[in-house]
Amino acid sequence: MSDTPVIDAVALRKVYAAGDTPVVALADVTLQVQKGEFVAVVGASGSGKSTFMNLIGLLDRPTSGVLRLDGVDVARLTGNQRAIVRNHKVGFVFQGFNLLRRTSARENVELPLLYAGVPARAREEAARLALTQVGLGDRLEHMPNQLSGGQQQRVAIARALVNQPALLLADEPTGNLDSATTREILKLFVDLNLHHGITIVMVTHESDVAAVSRRVVQFKDGHLVLDGPPPPEWTPAIGVPWRQAAKVEAA
Ligand SMILES: Nc1ncnc2c1ncn2[C@@H]1O[C@H](COP(=O)(O)OP(=O)(O)OP(=O)(O)O)[C@@H](O)[C@H]1O
Ligand SMILES: [Mg+2]
Repeated sequence: MSDTPVIDAVALRKVYAAGDTPVVALADVTLQVQKGEFVAVVGASGSGKSTFMNLIGLLDRPTSGVLRLDGVDVARLTGNQRAIVRNHKVGFVFQGFNLLRRTSARENVELPLLYAGVPARAREEAARLALTQVGLGDRLEHMPNQLSGGQQQRVAIARALVNQPALLLADEPTGNLDSATTREILKLFVDLNLHHGITIVMVTHESDVAAVSRRVVQFKDGHLVLDGPPPPEWTPAIGVPWRQAAKVEAA
């Protein structure tokens, strides 16, 4: 069914039991993300952004609440099934790239396919395609230390996309990048979202990065406090078609 939300979270809650006082990192968050959306997640440090992403990405389990990913109720899955859903439905991009050193761009991108049991020839072909898609078709055999920060993040994005996931999750993907490289990565995200139909949820601290999205979700002390289009006073770091269209409409 095409109208099944990619993310359907109902009263999603995460309590960490570290020390004497439990920390409510996420307080009954209810949120849906539809296929093809580009959502920015914002909020102060410690507000629950990464906790939310880790739950959505099946890297962690909620204390309570319901979470459906692309229609699959993930709470009911065993550890093994969770790993399979994670591998097939979700691609993750982190602030620190998390590439294997002394491993070529191509081999880094092949990793999720290796875990999925895809044969070598098909892995290589898919990795080549994914790297070409992010503009690195001429850097297949480069090692991470032979690539710029932006190129390394592109490799990480190719790795996240190589399984053709329903959802790309990015936690501060431009946090380690200068502003020119940040724009380059944001343009790639917009292209992936607009022209390849990839659903994106991206955490950021920067209002100009968040303003590139069409929908901003804000957390405060684990609560969802805002959910709507980026405020008009936030200037996007790059020109985005939907903002220009909105301006024309408003004129
Ligand atoms: N593994 C953990 N054990 C205990 N408490 C945790 C754990 N992970 C996060 N927390 C707490 O949960 C709250 C939310 O943390 P989270 O990492 O989600 O914040 P964040 O919004 O991503 O912050 P930042 O912008 O600094 O990355 C914080 O108060 C944090 O201290
Ligand atoms: Mg975080």
